[in-house]
Amino acid sequence: MSIIYDKIGNTFALNTCETTYGVAIVDNRYVAHGYYGKRIPAEDIRCLLREEEAPFTPGKNKRETGGFLDSMWMEFPESGMGDFRESAFCLRTESGYRASELEYDRFEIVQGKPRLLGLPATWGNEEDCTTLKLYCQDRLTGVRVCLLYTVFEDVDAITRSVIVENHGKEGVYLEKAYSGCLDMEDRNFQVVSLMGAWARERYIQRLPLGYGRQRAASFRGESSHQEHPFMALVTPETTEDTGEVYAMNFVYSGNFIAQAEKDQFDSVRMVMGLHPDEFCWKLEPGDTFTAPEVVMVYSDQGFGKMTRLFHRLYRNHLIRSPYLHKERPILINNWEATYFQFDEKKLLDIARESRKLGIEMMVMDDGWFGKRDTDESSLGDWQVNEGKLKGGLKKLAEQVNDMGMKFGIWFEPEMVSPDSDLYRAHPDWAIQIPGRDITQVRQQYVLDLSRQEVVDGVYEMVAEILRNAPIAYVKWDMNRPLCTLGSLGLPPERMGELSHRYMLGVYQMQERLTEEFPDLLLENCSSGGGRFDPGMLYYSPQIWCSDDTDAVERLAIQEGTAMVYPLSTMGAHVSACPNHILGRVTPFETRGYVALAGTFGYELDITKLSEEEKEMVKEQVRLYHRYHKVIADGEYYRLDSYRENERYDSWMTVSQDRKEAVLVYVQVLAEANKKSRCIRLKGLDEKAMYEVKDVTGREKAVCRSGAALMNAGFRILPEAGDFRSIMYEIRMKTV
Ligand code: GLA
Repeated sequence: MSIIYDKIGNTFALNTCETTYGVAIVDNRYVAHGYYGKRIPAEDIRCLLREEEAPFTPGKNKRETGGFLDSMWMEFPESGMGDFRESAFCLRTESGYRASELEYDRFEIVQGKPRLLGLPATWGNEEDCTTLKLYCQDRLTGVRVCLLYTVFEDVDAITRSVIVENHGKEGVYLEKAYSGCLDMEDRNFQVVSLMGAWARERYIQRLPLGYGRQRAASFRGESSHQEHPFMALVTPETTEDTGEVYAMNFVYSGNFIAQAEKDQFDSVRMVMGLHPDEFCWKLEPGDTFTAPEVVMVYSDQGFGKMTRLFHRLYRNHLIRSPYLHKERPILINNWEATYFQFDEKKLLDIARESRKLGIEMMVMDDGWFGKRDTDESSLGDWQVNEGKLKGGLKKLAEQVNDMGMKFGIWFEPEMVSPDSDLYRAHPDWAIQIPGRDITQVRQQYVLDLSRQEVVDGVYEMVAEILRNAPIAYVKWDMNRPLCTLGSLGLPPERMGELSHRYMLGVYQMQERLTEEFPDLLLENCSSGGGRFDPGMLYYSPQIWCSDDTDAVERLAIQEGTAMVYPLSTMGAHVSACPNHILGRVTPFETRGYVALAGTFGYELDITKLSEEEKEMVKEQVRLYHRYHKVIADGEYYRLDSYRENERYDSWMTVSQDRKEAVLVYVQVLAEANKKSRCIRLKGLDEKAMYEVKDVTGREKAVCRSGAALMNAGFRILPEAGDFRSIMYEIRMKTV
C-alpha cells in the first residue's frame, strides 16, 4: 500500500518506493506536516510533530493558538489567523474580511489519479498511482478545500493539487491558492533555481538560504525566460551523486511563485503555486476552483537522481504525444536562413537540398501570412500571403511532400498586431485597460483568451489552415509577456481572473488542436524558451529551448533545462556561424553534437553550405538515426559542467538496460601543456566490459570494464583549438 492511514496516530504515510511523506491530523482539526524524506514507518510520524513542546496544540492550551499556528508545520497554511509565515491560502469575504480556518473533516483514498479540470497534469491509472484526498472546511464561509496528494510509488514522486468549493451562501474571493507547501527543519539548506534571460534561459543558480524569504516568480503571464517554476532545497554538501534534494516543479505555464522561507525557529517553508499578484478569483456559491499541480521529488543521492526521477515521471506520466517515444523527423527551419524574406522558390530550394542530405521535414517559420515582411504587422491574419507563396499553402506543402519530406508551419495564435485585419475587426479582442495605451512589445498585443469567443475565433483560423493542407508539424510561438491587464469580457470583480483564465484559454486551444489533429507534432516556443515548463509538455512533446543556438551557450542552457526535463523535449538545432546572436564561430561538428542532445534539426541556409559541411550534415543525420533512442529514452548523466569549471563539458546517456551509452565531451577552451583528462562515467554496469568507440572512427576503439570507466575514468586527449568536441559510442561486450 502506498498510502497508509494510521488510526492510532491519526497520520497518513504516503510511501513511494524510496520516500515517505507524512501528514498528521492535530486536535482533530489541523492538517499538519510530519516528515518528508527516506522511508520511515507510518507509526513514527506522530512523534516527529514536537507536540510535547510549547506552544502546545490549542486543544491543550486555548490561549496559545497564535504561537501554535506560527510554529506548527502545516500542509496548507492559511493567512489571517496567526501563522505569519507565507500562507498558501487566502480568502476574502464579500464584507471584506480576510481569514479562514480550514478544519479537517475526512479523508478518502482512491486508486489512480483524478483529472484536474482544464489543466495540464501528470496522469496515471490504478496500477500507477494512489491518491489521498483530505477534505477540510471553513465553517464561517462554507468554503471547502480538498487537498490532493497522488503517490507515484514506482516512479518515486508525489504530486499535489487543491480544489476549492464554495458551499456557502455568499460569494468569496480567493486571493491566494497555492498548490504545494513543505515545512521542514533547516539543515543549512541552499536554494537551487533556474534563472535566466532571453537567450540565456535556465542557468542553474545555487545560493545559501538565510533568514527571510527567497523566491523565484513570474507575473509576466508566462513561466518566463527570467525565472522558472522550479525550486530545490539542498543540503550544503550536495553534488551530482550525494546529498539531499527536495525539489518542486509547477505543472503550469503562467504566473507562479516558488519560495523558500527560513523562520525564527529555523524551520523552512517551501511553497509553490499561482502567483498571488494579478490573481483574485471570485467563487460564487456552488463554484469550484482547481489549483494547478505541483510535483515533488526527494533525492538522497544528489541532483543526478532528482533529474532522473523528473525525467522518468515526465516521460511516463506527463507527455501524452504519440511522438514521445517515436523518432522525430529531423527538421530544417528557415528562420535563421531567411528571417521574413522568402518565397516559395527559396523554401523549395532549401527543402530540395535538405532532402538530398537526409533531412526529413521542412518547417516554414514566421512571415508566410498577411503582409508580414517585418514584425510590425499581420499577427492574427492567418491567411497565406500569395505574393510570397504562389499557389498557396496546400501546393507548397504538397511540393515538399513530393520531395519525400514532411511540411511544418509556424503560428503565433495568442497574439494580434495593431496593424492587422483581425485587430481592425475586433479591437476589443486585445487585452487592454480602457483609456490607456496598450503596452506594445515586439509591436504586438495579446489576445484576450479569457474570452471563449476569442478562443473559438482564433482556434478556427488555425485549424482551418491545418484542415486544408498536409501539415505535419506546428511551431506554436508566444513572443511577449502580458501587461496592461484588462479584459473587456470580464466584470470588474473578476478582473483578477484574467491571467489564469488566459492560461486556461491557451490550454483549451492546445487540447482541441491535439484532439482534432492527433498526428500533428506540436512544438511550443516563446521567444525561444520563455515557456518551457511541464504545463506545455502536457500538450507538446518538445519545446524550443532557446533562440540562442550557439553551441557553447547552449551547454549551460541545455544543462539547466535537462536538470528537470528529458532530453527528448529540448528543441535544439545546428545553426550557421558566425552565430547570429553572439558572432561566435564553432566547429560544425560541435554544433551537431550539442544539438543531438535535443530534438535535433537545422536552422540555416543549407543551400549556402560548403561541400564539406554538407558531408557533415549527412554524418550527423546518420548519428541521429543511430543514437536518438539512447539519447531520448536513456538515463541522462551530467558529468562535467563548463558553467562550473569554465573549461570543458561532458554528459552521457545510458540505455535502460545499460548495454548502450553515448558520451559527449566538449573542450570549450584549449589549455596549454596539458595531459589527457580522465572523465568518470556513470550509469554503466561495473561488472560488464564495454567497447568505447569515437563515432567518427578517428580514434581506435578500446575495451574497458564498467568498473574502470566509472571508478577510474575514461581518458580524453586534449586537442589544439577551442570548442572541439568528441562523441563516443559505448557498447556492452560481455557481462
Ligand atoms: C521567436 C522564436 C523564433 C522565431 C521567431 C519568429 O523569437 O523563438 O524561433 O520563430 O519568433 O518571429
